[in-house]
Amino acid sequence: MRILSGIQPTGRPHLGNYFGMMQPAIGLQHEGEAFYFIADYHALTTIHDPVVLRDHCRELALDFLACGLDPARATFFRQSHVPEVTELAWLLSCVTPVPMLENAHSFKDKTARGFVPSTGLFTYPVLMAADILIYDSDVVPVGQDQKQHLEMTRDIAAKFNARYGQDLLKLPKPMIREASAAVPGLDGQKMSKSYNNTVPLFEEEKPLRKKIMGLKTDSVGVDEPKDPDASSIVQFYKLVASETEVAAMEASFRAGGYGYGHYKQQLFDALWEHFRPARERRTALAADPAYLDSILAEGAAKARPLAQSVMQRVRAACGL
Ligand code: ADP
Ligand code: TRP
Repeated sequence: MRILSGIQPTGRPHLGNYFGMMQPAIGLQHEGEAFYFIADYHALTTIHDPVVLRDHCRELALDFLACGLDPARATFFRQSHVPEVTELAWLLSCVTPVPMLENAHSFKDKTARGFVPSTGLFTYPVLMAADILIYDSDVVPVGQDQKQHLEMTRDIAAKFNARYGQDLLKLPKPMIREASAAVPGLDGQKMSKSYNNTVPLFEEEKPLRKKIMGLKTDSVGVDEPKDPDASSIVQFYKLVASETEVAAMEASFRAGGYGYGHYKQQLFDALWEHFRPARERRTALAADPAYLDSILAEGAAKARPLAQSVMQRVRAACGL
């Protein structure tokens, strides 16, 4: 089984990215042949400063490795180190109907918020389809918000196959973990870099405490029973605490007697502990930039020949 996923270097990864995509991807590296990449071509739709882009790529690579991506098991690389993917994107764009792209949620959301779209933003899902199809990927672990992009990838692959030959491109399946399909942000909307409502994975202690203490709660009094199902504190706690710990917090909510501040403190402690080993690994990795570069170079050297062989097949089928 070939597993593939990508993440854009558009800012510091947050709890949504981690629980929605990074942690499931890291878990899957033991189950098959994993390919994970930093989607730097995609990031050009929003990041326009080369220094910032390089910096985000480096930081994201550090974060992913610190969280447990094992370069001995997973091929880890930068998207732009396999430039063949842009050629496939072109070929795919020639079978992709404009209305399909006009219907993409991410495109509609951005334009609705007043963003004047570039052609790159419009054709973003075609490049994403190329990312997936160029490695003959079987499964793609992502968060819920990428589901439509995966459906488009399958549609585009089916259209391409209908035109140029059955089984030319392999149709991938999304893998979306229900429990963390859409992690909420500090304001209750989906956590996203674009909404300024994130909890970065490797936030410093003080700002992390401030963010957790600032979580919105209702005005139920200290002694009164509280509804654990309506609380974002419990929702976050579920991501990092054991079932017994969650059950204890839920029971305490229902019993009353503690204010929300008490539970926020418990949540902060659990989060801080959860990421302690990763934080320590990250500090060690950051001290060795040459190691990081060598991992990404080795990853590209493994990924590129694979992409080239699929391109050979595809070019021949198209008459190029
Ligand atoms: P952002 O919306 O913050 O820009 P990305 O689009 O870079 O995040 O997403 C990277 C990966 O993280 C994708 O697989 C996406 O589905 C997942 N993801 C992003 N936000 C969340 C969230 N709030 N809950 C679950 N998964 C998420
Ligand atoms: N669009 C994805 C996101 O915003 C990133 C991405 C690009 C991706 N290419 C991909 C994810 C291929 C999975 C497979 O999160």
